[in-house]
Amino acid sequence: MEIFPVVDLSKLNGEERGATMEVIKEACENWGFFELMNHGISHELMDTVEKLTKEHYRKCMEQRFKEMVASKGLEGVQSEISDLDWESTFFLRHLPVSNLNEIPDLEDDYRKAMKEFARELEKLAEQLLDLLCENLGLDKGYLKNAFYGSKGPTFGTKVSNYPPCPKPDLIKGLRAHTDAGGLILLFQDDKVSGLQLLKDDQWIDVPPMKHSIVINLGDQLEVITNGKYKSVLHRVIAQSDGNRMSIASFYNPGSDAVIYPAPALVEKEAEKSLEYPKFVFEDYMKLYAAVKFQAKEPRFEAMKIMGTTVNLGPIASV
Ligand SMILES: [Fe+2]
Repeated sequence: MEIFPVVDLSKLNGEERGATMEVIKEACENWGFFELMNHGISHELMDTVEKLTKEHYRKCMEQRFKEMVASKGLEGVQSEISDLDWESTFFLRHLPVSNLNEIPDLEDDYRKAMKEFARELEKLAEQLLDLLCENLGLDKGYLKNAFYGSKGPTFGTKVSNYPPCPKPDLIKGLRAHTDAGGLILLFQDDKVSGLQLLKDDQWIDVPPMKHSIVINLGDQLEVITNGKYKSVLHRVIAQSDGNRMSIASFYNPGSDAVIYPAPALVEKEAEKSLEYPKFVFEDYMKLYAAVKFQAKEPRFEAMKIMGTTVNLGPIASV
């Protein structure tokens, strides 16, 4: 059994820096996932976010979820459900413009905690992007700039709860997919597991660890690294016991950012024919919205075809 990569970020400041960078590199190349400990975000803040998220679910989301289950007759299903996930969610946007004040039903202390948590995660995401640059031999700031577009990155949070499910063999918590964006930072329940990634044709659990942040790479990092790093299929298995909390934050390119393989990573002639596409991030997201639960490769192919028919303007010659 392979050991899921865990990175102690505090070791970047000491003599174990090289070994720590190597764990991150190996995880990016072979897992698309790793778990961070001692990432610098206060445990107290994480505890507050967890407590308030769970309270908010009970107060504002649980009843609605139960009504959805009843209206669709999901308790009594007899065959596999393939068009629905056993999850209760809402979304927050932080960048380029926050919509936190427009979300109904959020208590002030919850709004405040989520704002502070998002700010911490944004810093962590940018620190990680630079660590990836270092491992890839790219200039510091390359990935942040690649995501920037004209208004900076898009950063948002999907707050999910996966309630206990009477038919976990027939309904997935979340069907298998790769993430469309850049870097994903997940604060997951430390008691109720369920997240799995696909590695060498085997579904592997992402282990719950208290106060950790799980990182995974989205499709855009696969494109920019020209496939050196991969976005990896993952899913959530609903559990028959326990309510799983999952707070996933997406540090993504700005909508008008032009995404393409870093020239420094496609230097070798042999790699040119395998090159990934160039596109405007917003166009990728439009396609993704329709085909999220399908394989990513046809998405990349479709963007290649679009790239040859759509004029990207002066940026296309970069
Ligand atoms: Fe995902």
